[in-house]
Amino acid sequence: MCGIVGYIGENQAAPILLDGLAKLEYRGYDSAGIAIYDGNEIRMEKVMGRLKVLEELTHGGETMPGCAGIGHTRWATHGCPSDTNAHPHFNKEHSIVVVHNGIIENYAKLKRKLEAKGYEFLSETDTEVLVHLLTEYYDGDPIAAIERVMRRVEGSYALGIMFLDHPHHIYAARKDSPLIVGASPVGNLIASDVPAILRYTRNVYYMENEEIVCLSKENIRFFNIDGDKLEKTPTTIDWDIDAAEKGGYEHFMLKEIYEQPKAVRDTISPRLKNNDVVIEELGMTDDELRAVRKISIVACGSAYHAGITGKYVLEGMARIPVEVDLASEFRYRNPIYEEGTLAIIISQSGETADSLAALREAKKHGVRVLGIVNVVGSSIAREADNVMYTWAGPEISVATTKAYSAQIAALYLLAMKFAKVRGTVSQEEFLKMQSDLEQLPEQIETLLGMKEKIQRFANRYLAADHMFFIGRGIDYAISLEGSLKLKEISYIHSEAYAAGELKHGTISLIEDGTLVVALATQENLYPKTISNIVEVKTRGAFVMAVTNFGHKEIEKTADYVIYIPKTNQFFTNSLAIIPLQLFGYYVSLGRGLDVDKPRNLAKSVTVE
Ligand code: F6R
Repeated sequence: MCGIVGYIGENQAAPILLDGLAKLEYRGYDSAGIAIYDGNEIRMEKVMGRLKVLEELTHGGETMPGCAGIGHTRWATHGCPSDTNAHPHFNKEHSIVVVHNGIIENYAKLKRKLEAKGYEFLSETDTEVLVHLLTEYYDGDPIAAIERVMRRVEGSYALGIMFLDHPHHIYAARKDSPLIVGASPVGNLIASDVPAILRYTRNVYYMENEEIVCLSKENIRFFNIDGDKLEKTPTTIDWDIDAAEKGGYEHFMLKEIYEQPKAVRDTISPRLKNNDVVIEELGMTDDELRAVRKISIVACGSAYHAGITGKYVLEGMARIPVEVDLASEFRYRNPIYEEGTLAIIISQSGETADSLAALREAKKHGVRVLGIVNVVGSSIAREADNVMYTWAGPEISVATTKAYSAQIAALYLLAMKFAKVRGTVSQEEFLKMQSDLEQLPEQIETLLGMKEKIQRFANRYLAADHMFFIGRGIDYAISLEGSLKLKEISYIHSEAYAAGELKHGTISLIEDGTLVVALATQENLYPKTISNIVEVKTRGAFVMAVTNFGHKEIEKTADYVIYIPKTNQFFTNSLAIIPLQLFGYYVSLGRGLDVDKPRNLAKSVTVE
């Protein structure tokens, strides 16, 4: 992951770089560094730890004067977090300096060759080969040297580069790691993501694979890997700048939990028209929709959990067979594509390396690919045949909440569209679904009002060793996401289980007082789930149940109950997930952890 940023212009670069890195810290936060040209030499400061350590070290950038520079915030892949492994990386002469996001896969071979030529490596990173290779190829022409390096390296990279010989330029290049270029009246910028530069400009160029850019104070020039000049058109970003700030909330996660009614409304409303679901971006006629014989959903993490919900909803509502795969498995399992398969890649960032590779695998087989993506202009959005955007706005907290909710809302719309054209629901059922869908934002709002109740309950479990989340059908999909939310930010071990599967082994882990969160929102499965609750209670579990209003009798079986408003059975995930997100948040808060930046994680996983 890692975040990179660069600036050249009229203003002091260091404060702009530090500010940009703060917006990119979600991408990695084990060390940070900046390099600035001070009018005489390129100076560098880099240090292990959060960005604030670097800010203190440089007095907010004051000790690093100069109007051109590059910066980096790291999520370690090659080499542990340390001052030495932090970026930027210099060559021996301090005449070339590089920041890198991605992985150089053939770095070991390149390193051996460079060492044989006398290059001395100071760090354990793969990145350092880049700076020595640049030195090897540089003969006064930065673009030519960068091109040659790009031809030698395998893997992924977004690079920011400075040459002491060309102090009035910064250079950048990308392949399979995100990179944008911003043009502002006071200078030009590069960054891994939009929030880093939103304060300075809304005019953004998206770099494509194997492109190079050279920025000066006044100019931006693009080249392909053959050195040919490219003409590119900027895109105007229409994000609200406040959306990328905390706006009075203690954490981005809480703010984003509270933004869910809006995220769901913005995803649904524009697509509900004249008693129909209109998804123009699908680019498919009704006949084409009817011809789809199978859907293959591929994603990672929470987006994969959204996909599992999608399977239950699409199969149940529209009677289309759906396969759901983890992208990291899918890409290497030699998938079989039948004619009439529609591939759906779900991704908040649109940059997840495995999901992007799955997209390319599907396209290689000639399959139509639909991206369900949150970040406009991201790689998956650009490479998919069609994109259905989730309108959740920028999501900063590492643990996803609002993007997940928008993803499942998008999947409901898709299922309704398929169901309608394939005639698997009557018009009356369709209209009832539409009205239920429209009520979701308000119902989510109601559930958010439970926050104090959930916080009190969460405070009882701050010292728990492990927990279980169980459910059947869509409730199982909700359990998967509830369990991930809890464990990733609280560091309490937690597992999600299909409620009927627990007794095939895992039930032996239940002991006196173990918290089991039981989801029971699916009416047809309700009696079965109650039996599973009884099974764990008999083994000493304390059960918190989440069920629909009206099931008061559950209080005789479960120890603690949260009721969700009544909705269509296919849509209960959107409501039941809210108390589970709040539960994870308050356990993490109560344990005094860094909610928005949990250890070992990064938001945008652009490496395999
Ligand atoms: C968990 C979380 C991750 C992401 C996963 C996929 O809270 O955020 O599991 O869902 O890394 O990321 P995207 O959706 O950006 O492809």
